[in-house]
Amino acid sequence: MSFKEIKPSDINSSVFTDIGSKWMLISAQKPDGSINTMTASWGTMGVLWNKNIFVCFVRPQRFTHEFTEASDRISISFFGEEYHEALTVCGRKSGRDCDKIKLAGLTPFTTENGVGFNEAERIIYGKKIYVGKLDPKCFLSDDIEKHYNNDYHTVYICEIEKIEEKE
Ligand SMILES: Cc1cc2nc3c(=O)[nH]c(=O)nc-3n(C[C@H](O)[C@H](O)[C@H](O)COP(=O)(O)O)c2cc1C
Repeated sequence: MSFKEIKPSDINSSVFTDIGSKWMLISAQKPDGSINTMTASWGTMGVLWNKNIFVCFVRPQRFTHEFTEASDRISISFFGEEYHEALTVCGRKSGRDCDKIKLAGLTPFTTENGVGFNEAERIIYGKKIYVGKLDPKCFLSDDIEKHYNNDYHTVYICEIEKIEEKE
């Protein structure tokens, strides 16, 4: 599997389709070398503080949360439609209970920039630059709270350090 590095401005697909419809994997590695990943369909990317960034949202009860908290780096990986089932597995099973990456048929690898997958079409590696918890006192729309059971997402804003795309 070979990847080429691209710039953020080279991304020519829709973030709404890529994240909202096709989904992504949020991955991180603990200092002991262990990794975990989970499916996400909420998130965004853009520009903030003169940096290219992505933002992802992880609920505190996710096993992945331990990893995103313990690591300086988080990656988001995007896959072709043929991996939709694999992403369903990673969004239904917890790495706490099983080796879901193997169950999903995915092959992870780690680099100094973070966790990637051989099967991914694009991997965006980020460095955490802001971490916070969503505060329900700040919800201005009545239809937000229904998404929660006191498990407000941790928000990670990550500076994009590298993007790899399948050649
Ligand atoms: C389509 C889809 C989108 C999801 N989006 C998110 C998300 O943005 N944030 C989140 O915390 N959980 C999200 N989840 C739930 C996690 O992927 C799921 O709970 C997963 O099993 C967590 O795995 P873990 O315990 O190994 O971290 C989503 C699940 C699916 C199927």
